[in-house]
Amino acid sequence: EQIEKGGYEHFMLKEIFEQPKSIHDTMRGRLLVNEGIIKMAGIWDHLERFKNANRIIIIACGTSWHAGLIGEYLIEEFARIPVEVEYASEFRYRNPIITDKDVVIAISQSGETADTMAALKLAKEKGAFIYGICNVVDSSIARITDAGSYTHAGPEIGVASTKAFTAQLTILSLIALKLGKHNGNLGNAEFMSLISELDAIPKKIEEVLETTHELTQNIAKDFINASNFLYLGRGYNYPAALEGALKLKEISYIHAEGYPAAEMKHGPIALIDENMPIVIIAPKKGHYDKIVSNVQEIKARKGKVIAVVNKGDQQVSAMADYVIEIPETSECFSPIVASVPLQLLAYYIAVYRGANVDQPRNLAKSVTVE
Ligand code: G6P
Repeated sequence: EQIEKGGYEHFMLKEIFEQPKSIHDTMRGRLLVNEGIIKMAGIWDHLERFKNANRIIIIACGTSWHAGLIGEYLIEEFARIPVEVEYASEFRYRNPIITDKDVVIAISQSGETADTMAALKLAKEKGAFIYGICNVVDSSIARITDAGSYTHAGPEIGVASTKAFTAQLTILSLIALKLGKHNGNLGNAEFMSLISELDAIPKKIEEVLETTHELTQNIAKDFINASNFLYLGRGYNYPAALEGALKLKEISYIHAEGYPAAEMKHGPIALIDENMPIVIIAPKKGHYDKIVSNVQEIKARKGKVIAVVNKGDQQVSAMADYVIEIPETSECFSPIVASVPLQLLAYYIAVYRGANVDQPRNLAKSVTVE
């Protein structure tokens, strides 16, 4: 097992550090920047199905569901096809309206999650076209779908998903850009600039790992005894806030909630005092001014702000108690980059609390029960 961990203390840390490579592997053979194309046979062969879809329904559980939420933003922005994102367990039990004009995308790292599988069977019975985004090759979900794309992130051993999540975001980005290009919503210049941004993501993650590894350890030390955490983000980074909170609760057992930053005033603000750490994702291209006022409101109540900002940021950084800088990218890809320091922060808080990071209590890597 020590050999499999490749010198890292835990699989989770190894998998966090593998992300420049795993994202590169996800894009390999698909993103051809020089030729200006995205090659995805699963989409290309069924382009008409996607183009004529009434809507796309994304079905998933856990971390994969968070990836699905970002997928909704991506596909609606670039392909202009309406998207709904559903928890598989809710979808399957509520007599959903599904027609043969719907495209269902299932996202699952393991490809074995029972609720996702059952939801897919139901959608299939109703005649929907089923597309799978799985990491495990030849898994049950991969086998029942009509078409799909593997994430190719490599085996993920840590129960808390890290590299599979960023690989799912990468695939969803590719799908959204490809559909946008082919249905005429995305002009060539914008398409070209987005694909070169996407191509640069592995390098940016490498940089983030280098510059935030020690920093997140130091920040973690100050929050070992926290009993609650709030994670806030807007737009594309709202699901990233949900995922940041999920990572922390899964492995450290600290209660954490993710919220869209603007919803803070409808509840969470009542919780803020000097004992409440708040992780706020505030890249320059993501409704920055609004986030600045959220941070002002938090500081007026003495909350402890850990801010994830772009390099050279001034306004949020001046108010934050802790600043984590990440390189700039397009807003739509910023959750991929911003998630990495949040994974590290959760990891180190859990390690310092003595938790079993790779196998947290009560959780399983693949949930094959309903
Ligand atoms: C479990 C795992 C999570 C995962 C979820 C969905 O809860 O612990 O990490 O996100 O199942 O799993 P899937 O394999 O369908 O992505």
